[in-house]
Order: sequence, then structure tokens, then C-alpha cells
Amino acid sequence: MPVGIDDLAMYIPKLYVDSKDFAKARGIDPQKLESGIGVRKMAIVDTNQDPACMASNACLKLMEKNNLHPKDIGRMYVATESALDESKAMNSFVIGMLEQVYGDGSFEHAGGIECKFACVSGSYALYDNANWIRAEENNGKAAIVIVSDIAKYDIGSAGEYTQGAGALAMLIKDNPRLLEFDQKVTSTIIKNEYDFYRPFGKETPLVNGNYSNLLYLIQVKKAFDSYKEKAKTTGLIKWDENNESITDKIDYFIVHLPYRKMGEKALAYLLRHEWRHLPRWQYIIKEVGMDEPIPKDPRGTIESILLDKEFMKLDEQFRRAFMKTSSYQDVFNRKMASSLEASSIIGNLYTASMYVGFRSMLEFEYKKGIELENKRIGFGSYGSGSSAMVFSGVIKSGYKEIVKSMNLEEEIGNRTKVSMEQYEQLRESEINPDYYITKPRREFILVKIGGNTSDKAGLREYEYIH
Ligand code: COA
Repeated sequence: MPVGIDDLAMYIPKLYVDSKDFAKARGIDPQKLESGIGVRKMAIVDTNQDPACMASNACLKLMEKNNLHPKDIGRMYVATESALDESKAMNSFVIGMLEQVYGDGSFEHAGGIECKFACVSGSYALYDNANWIRAEENNGKAAIVIVSDIAKYDIGSAGEYTQGAGALAMLIKDNPRLLEFDQKVTSTIIKNEYDFYRPFGKETPLVNGNYSNLLYLIQVKKAFDSYKEKAKTTGLIKWDENNESITDKIDYFIVHLPYRKMGEKALAYLLRHEWRHLPRWQYIIKEVGMDEPIPKDPRGTIESILLDKEFMKLDEQFRRAFMKTSSYQDVFNRKMASSLEASSIIGNLYTASMYVGFRSMLEFEYKKGIELENKRIGFGSYGSGSSAMVFSGVIKSGYKEIVKSMNLEEEIGNRTKVSMEQYEQLRESEINPDYYITKPRREFILVKIGGNTSDKAGLREYEYIH
């Protein structure tokens, strides 16, 4: 049974920090942020917003735009790493908010959970819900998967310029208009790691930035190797292994985007591994102008690579030159660039970042006049801690109906630039929630969090503002 993404809707908070202001305040060259990281604007939440109300806003948009009623929905999953409670799942908050609009008990028949595995959990949620439909457990109903996060790092840390906030809701059903998932090829990899984690009670993560970058590349590549094997044995994708790479047969690459530049690097890493045994490598090496360095330890584990300082230095040099070659640039421009547009004006969205990348690709490729029907999309999802999932899907004939009206700037809406002083006050929760910066309109907001001493400690109250 064909199952996949039928439609999607996004909610981005209306405040942002400009990367030039940020660079000035932190004494960083603005060019480092714009081209080294790839960020121009970072979305941040107002005093009256949290990941649950962003998730509800994205979900309400999706439901309204598709004239959906709660009775059409059998499951709602929220994937996040910005959990509000150690026990109560974020989708229960979302149900509560949506029932303010659709009526008390209107979602009672449905089910769902909050999913956690850093930035990859949304992909697991999609996979589980697609299989729920394939197994015909859904009684004719669709599923909604929402990815919602606030990427927040310590003030003054290297992670601070890779922040962002937002949510995306996806409608999962049979015979989807937008994207049908390929079956029997989804591949995962998992390992106990401490590249990025947020212990109980801590608002910001502990990050080993460069380690997490390298681990991301290694883990996604391992999952990709397994995907490749499955694509070959199932016959999903056919290619001449002596002269071609499976990457030649995948039309778009959508990957996890903690920041724009990471997408560019992930593509370079994948193409190097997939191309180095092919005839084309000879002329690529000529254009690069140096041989590809080989690590001293042939096992190529993350530990051995990091210890091999000489290799690391040469490899960075090679990677930069490879990314300038016409072969890389050609694939990058045709198969990835459009998916990175949204990231540079929103920032990191953790679980939502890859899916907003997908949304971005659809809009900007469509605007170029490219026919997308039957194009195969390869997804490389990564979550620290760590797990990667690689899967693929094919764009369906109904996509135009959805994509033709996409307009990123319009969907984000009018935004207010905050000063660095306001940003720091918001970050430290120094502004009273009653004094929000942007006036809410047609959206859910957080109005109250119960006090510490009462029996209502931690209880969150939300309201829909018309
Ligand atoms: N002009 C242009 N580019 C510049 C520059 C300048 N003046 N100064 C530095 N840069 C470039 C660097 O060359 C580098 O580019 P490269 O990757 O192509 O080599 C890039 O800016 C980043 O600079 P670098 O100094 O290497 O890293 P950093 O200390 O700023 O840290 C992260 C970057 C991503 C590690 C950090 O932001 C972080 O920890 N983020 C959170 C964790 C994360 O997102 N992990 C991803 C995996 S999930």
C-alpha cells in the first residue's frame, strides 16, 4: 500500500536575531556566520511560547488547510528534544490545545506518544506511523507527526550561533499527494555516544561540537551503506556499479541541518565515499589538486580518526578543495541547494530541521520550474546520542496542488528583529510572560505555568487567541 506524506504545515515564531548583530555582540567576523556556518537569521520564541504551542500552531494550520476534523486522525505523535515534562507527553498538551478549537473530547478516540532521540526521533515517528497505516491498524484514519523544538545553547558558546525555533506538522496517509515512502529500504544505526546531551534539569545541552559533526557524518554514512545494500537487493534502485554510483540515481538529498553548512559537508562526505572507486575519481582528483589522504588506522573509527591529527588536517584541506570541484558543485546545485534556503533564515530546529529542509526544497525547486513528479528523495536523518536513519521516497503526481502555493516568507509571516539586549533578556526569562514582544494572532500561546508550591506545580495553561 502506498503510504507517505500527504501535506505539511510549518510554524516559526515571529522573533529573530540577525546574525550581523549577533556577530558584533560576540566579537565574531559576520562572514563566519553567513558563509562559515550559513546563518543569517535565527528564530527565537517570545515570552508566551513553548515547543507545545508551536507544535499546536503547526498542527492547526495543517488541519485547517486540509479541512480535517479530529475524527479523521487516528494518531498524533510529537517528536521533540525540548520536552516540557518528565512524564506527561507533549502530544497531550497539543491535544488539549486543539480541543479548545474542535471541542472537548474530539480527539479522545486517537492515540500517540512523544518521541525522543535528539534530532532523529521525527524520522522514527514517521516510520512507525507509516507502518501503522500499512498494517491497516488505522481504521481508515490518517496520522499526524509533529516535529517541534527550540535549539538553545549556552550564551557565549560556539553552539549559540546555531540556535533556532519552530515546528512542522506532517499528514501521513495512504495514497499521499506529496511523497510516497519507499518500502523495505529504511536503514538505521545506533550507538551509545555522548556527542550532545542534556541531563535532567539542564536547559542547554552539553556539546562536543566537532565530535558531533564527525559522528553525524560517520553514522549517516553507515546507515546509507545499509540503505544501499537494501536498495540493491530489493531492486528498488539499479545502477552499473563499475561506472555509476547509487547517488547518481537519487534526485535530491535532504539531510539533518543543525546549520546550513553542515548539509553541504554531509553531501561532500557522502559523494567522496560513493565516488572514490569510480572512473570519474581520476579527473576529480586532478581538479582537487592533491591525493585523497588515507587515515593511519584502516578501521576508520571516530576515535582513531580524531587521534590522527595529520590525517584530520589533510582531510579538511581535501574536503574544502573537493567542495570547489565542478562535479561536487553540479550535484550540490541540482540536488541539495534548495533544501538549505530555509535553514539560513530560521536556524537550527533539531527534529524539525530536516523536514523544513524538505519543505524548502519543494518550494524552491518548483519555483525553478522543475518537474518533480517521480523524483526520488534520499533522507539522511541524524540524532546525537546517537542514531541515524536513512530512507527514501518518491514525489507523487498530486504534489503541485500543495507546492504551488508555498511561500516561505509568507508562511513564516512578518517577523520582528530583536536587539541583542532583548534576546538576552528573553533567553534568561527576564521578561514577564505577560509582556510579550509580538501581539499573538490566530495562534495558541502559553498563558500560565503553575507555581512550585501548589498542587498545580508545572501545570501549563494555553489559550487560543483569535
Ligand atoms: N569567514 C568565513 N568563514 C569562517 C570565518 C570567517 N571569518 N571564520 C571561520 N570560518 C568558517 C570555518 O572555516 C569553518 O568552516 P569549515 O567547516 O568549512 O571549515 C566554519 O566557519 C565553522 O568554524 P569553526 O571554527 O570550525 O567552528 P566553531 O568553533 O565555530 O563551531 C560548531 C562550529 C558547529 C561545531 C558549533 O557551532 C557547535 O558546536 N554547534 C552545536 C553542535 C552541532 O550543531 N553539531 C552538529 C551535529 S548534530
